[in-house]
Amino acid sequence: MKSVWVLRIFTISMFTHSLPAQDLTHEDDEDSLAGCRTAVNDLVFIVDGSWSVGYTDFDTAKSWLINITSSFDIGPAYTQVAVVQYSDAPRLEFPLGQHRTNQQLITALKSMKYLGGNTQTGRAIKFATENVFPTSQRTNVAKNRIAIVVTDGKSQDDVIQSAAQARDENIIMFAVGVGSEITKSELVAIANSPSTDYVLYAEDYTTIDKIKETMQQKICEESVCPTRIPVASRDEKGFELLVGMNINKKASKIPGSLATKKAYLLTSDLDVTEDTRDIFPEGLPPSYVFVATVRLKSPVTSQVIDLWRILSKRGEVQAAVTLDGTDKSVIFTATQIYADSQVVKFQDERLKVLYSEYWHQLKILVRNKNAVLFLDDVVIQTQPLEESGPIFINGKTQVAKEEKSNNSVTIEIQKLRLYCDPEQSERETACEIYSVNDPRVSTSYIFIFCNK
Ligand SMILES: *[C@@H]1O[C@H](CO)[C@@H](O)[C@H](O)[C@H]1NC(C)=O
Ligand SMILES: *[C@@H]1O[C@H](CO)[C@@H](O)[C@H](O)[C@H]1NC(C)=O
Repeated sequence: MKSVWVLRIFTISMFTHSLPAQDLTHEDDEDSLAGCRTAVNDLVFIVDGSWSVGYTDFDTAKSWLINITSSFDIGPAYTQVAVVQYSDAPRLEFPLGQHRTNQQLITALKSMKYLGGNTQTGRAIKFATENVFPTSQRTNVAKNRIAIVVTDGKSQDDVIQSAAQARDENIIMFAVGVGSEITKSELVAIANSPSTDYVLYAEDYTTIDKIKETMQQKICEESVCPTRIPVASRDEKGFELLVGMNINKKASKIPGSLATKKAYLLTSDLDVTEDTRDIFPEGLPPSYVFVATVRLKSPVTSQVIDLWRILSKRGEVQAAVTLDGTDKSVIFTATQIYADSQVVKFQDERLKVLYSEYWHQLKILVRNKNAVLFLDDVVIQTQPLEESGPIFINGKTQVAKEEKSNNSVTIEIQKLRLYCDPEQSERETACEIYSVNDPRVSTSYIFIFCNK
C-alpha cells in the first residue's frame, strides 16, 4: 500500500489547482496522511462457526472479512486484526498483530477451517475480552479496540454479562446478525448503544455483501469521528465547524434565517483558518454529509469562493466545497485513492437561487460512489465520485476564502457541519429556511413536517 501513497504525493501537485507553496523546503510527509485506512485499530472479529452456518456460508463469511479488512492498512502502525471462530468453544484463528500486511491477512483468512458445533456466543466474547485484546503488542499506543460479533442464530449461553464486561473495558461492540434465526434483543444486548449505530443486519450470507460498506464506514467512524453534535434528542457523530473553526468566537453575531436563529458575519478582514490536525485529527470518513446554511451577497454572488476547504501544507486541495458565482454552480473536490484529486461540478437552473442574496441550505451527501447535492432539502443532482483517499492533515482548514487565494470573503453563515453518518442526510431538514417553512410558498407536506 505504502508505495501508492508515495506515488500520489508526486502526482497530485501536477494535477490539482494549488496555492503558491507555503513552505517550499518541506515536503508533505507520509506520516501526515490521515483517513480510515491509516486509523489505529485493534480489530477482533468474533465469527459464528456453528453447524447452522454451513460450509458454503462460512466461506462467504470469510470473503466478507477479507472485503471489510481490505479498506484498512494492516500493520503494526495501523490496523491489527484477530479472528476468533466459535461454536461450543472459541478458537483463536490468529492473534492481534500476527499479520503485518494486507496480503498476509488475506492468506490467513482464506485458510480458516470451519469449526461446526453449537452457538456459545457469550463464551466467545468473554474469551476475546480476556485473552485476545489484552495480548495486543501495542500497549502504549492510543488505539480503538473494536469487536465485531457475527452470528446467525440465538446464543445457547448468556451474552449479556460478557458483552457488558467487554464494553466496560472500552471495547466497542458491533453485532452483525445474519439470517432470520437471529434474536434482535440479543444483538442489542451485545452491541454498544444506540443499536441503530452498532447493530447491523443481513438477510442471509448471500446478501452480507450489502452491509460491507456500512460496516467499513462504521468501523471508520470510531476513529475518524471522535466528536459529536447534539441534534434533537440524539448526539450525531460529526464536526460542528462553527465552533471548531472558532467562528463563534471571531465573527460578529447577526440575525439568522429565522427569528429564532443566530448567524455570523464573516468579512474580508477576518481570517478563518485552523490547523487541520486540530479539526480533523484522523482525516475524513469515506462517507459524510456536509451542511452549510449561508447567505451570499454581492460581490460574492459573482465570484468563485471556497466555502470550506482543507489544504495540504503545500496548498493542494484535499477537500473543498466551492461556490462558483460566475456560472452559478457548486463544485466539490475530494482526494482519490489511486490518483490525484477529483472534482465534481453540480450545475442546475435551480442552483441560481443560492446566489440570490437569500438564506439557503446547501447539503452534499458524499458517498463511496457518488455525491448528491441538495438545496433547501431538494435533491438537485447526483454526480459519480470515486472512493476518496486519505487527506494530508499537516495543512490548514479554511472557511470563506477566494478560490486559489488566501483572501477572505464576506458571507453570512448560520450552519456549518459535517456529519459522519450518511443517514443523517435524511434527518437534517431545511426547516430553518424561511421559504421552505412558509406555507404560502411551500407544499403542505413540508409545512406540516417543519411545524410538527
Ligand atoms: C467481496 O468482494 C468481491 C469483489 O468486490 C465481491 O465479488 C464479493 O461478492 C464480495 N463478497 C462478500 C461476501 O462481501
Ligand atoms: C492568510 O491570511 C491571514 C491574514 O488574513 C494570515 O494571518 C495567514 O497567515 C495567511 N495564511 C497563509 C497560509 O498565507
